[in-house]
Amino acid sequence: MKYTCLEKGDLKSFEQRTQIRMVFPKKSRIELWMNLYDDGGFTMKMDEIKTHLSTERKPKPADDQIEFGKHYTDHMFIMDYTEGKGWHSPRIVPYGPLELDPAAKVFHYGQSVFEGLKAYRSKDDKILLFRPDQNFKRLNESNTRICIPHIDEAFALEALKKLVSIDQNWVPKAEGTSLYIRPFVIATESSLGLARSTSYQFIIIMSPVGSYYKEGINPVKILVEEKYIRAVPGGTGEAKTGGNYASSLLAQEEAEKIGYTQVLWLDGIEKKYVEEVGSMNVFFKIDGKVVTPALNGSILPGITRNSILHLLKHWQVPVEERKISIQEIYDAQKNGKLEEAFGTGTAAVISPIGEFFWKNEKIIVNNGEIGTLTKKLYDTLTGIQYGNEPDPFGWVIEL
Ligand SMILES: Cc1ncc(COP(=O)(O)O)c(C=O)c1O
Repeated sequence: MKYTCLEKGDLKSFEQRTQIRMVFPKKSRIELWMNLYDDGGFTMKMDEIKTHLSTERKPKPADDQIEFGKHYTDHMFIMDYTEGKGWHSPRIVPYGPLELDPAAKVFHYGQSVFEGLKAYRSKDDKILLFRPDQNFKRLNESNTRICIPHIDEAFALEALKKLVSIDQNWVPKAEGTSLYIRPFVIATESSLGLARSTSYQFIIIMSPVGSYYKEGINPVKILVEEKYIRAVPGGTGEAKTGGNYASSLLAQEEAEKIGYTQVLWLDGIEKKYVEEVGSMNVFFKIDGKVVTPALNGSILPGITRNSILHLLKHWQVPVEERKISIQEIYDAQKNGKLEEAFGTGTAAVISPIGEFFWKNEKIIVNNGEIGTLTKKLYDTLTGIQYGNEPDPFGWVIEL
């Protein structure tokens, strides 16, 4: 259990101090400060999670019939936040609809953040989580940007483990399948005034997902987006908040209409530099070196991206995080130096790119085939996630 040790001066309100003394009358002052965390809530313990198990178990889809994000497990985790009280009432309850006031701020001002991670079933039936601590860390970074109070990351991880353990029969068995986990926070205060909400819910739901690549890992066709932009430095691009995704839908639909799988987002100011591909980070192999856009404030810091960078450095493959113009990619292709291109993200892990279209010009990468390094990265990372490969970085957590 992680404690945030606060100085006496950090305790902002008289109300909070009185509350602590009432709850922990015999504890020493230093323990009181240690039991507090930065939103004025108390650090919660696992035994405080109330569990109300569902009396019915839903039928599970067959492993080969699972559609992404269409089926949900039997239970969900919920915790409430109230201003002045902090996060409280953690509970695991049967999966079901929420009751929210129509004036809840999340419906009007989009004050919400979310995360996405997976639980994997290994061949010897262990349930494994991949770097879940990083998802809760990023959730808090998104929270900061959207004015949502932080959650206790260690507590959230314990709650997640408890939820997965209760619904562990929902982690599918077939190769390439997994349980997708969606933690999210919504602003629940019913008030139409434009200001941060005074109440929130932190919720975790889970959904079995099928093998991402049913017919093998085939390269995708990408349209370089010239009209719409995803994010600008100072905006919300580096936070995982709903509005970023809502604003990307039109570009995605227009690209699909003309036969492209996804769009490549350029920077929002000069429309010159490569940022992300769909909802993935993007990598290129040029003349033996791997390059990926540096995190500049408008790019989501992907956990898969970070893992790929670690693996490449571990293998001593030269790698650069820097600005990359789309012109540089086109020039590299013309000079025969563009060797591979791929996107990275939790859903697909790695998605090879076989074609780009920009300013009426099409370029083909690696004859439209998956590159050797791309394949090696995919095999290694999925191998670690499913417990089939050594885990040199200690990324996998067993339930
Ligand atoms: C905009 C965007 N970029 C990149 C990613 C990849 O992030 P991760 O590797 O953590 O899934 C995601 C997915 O979460 C995303 O939504």
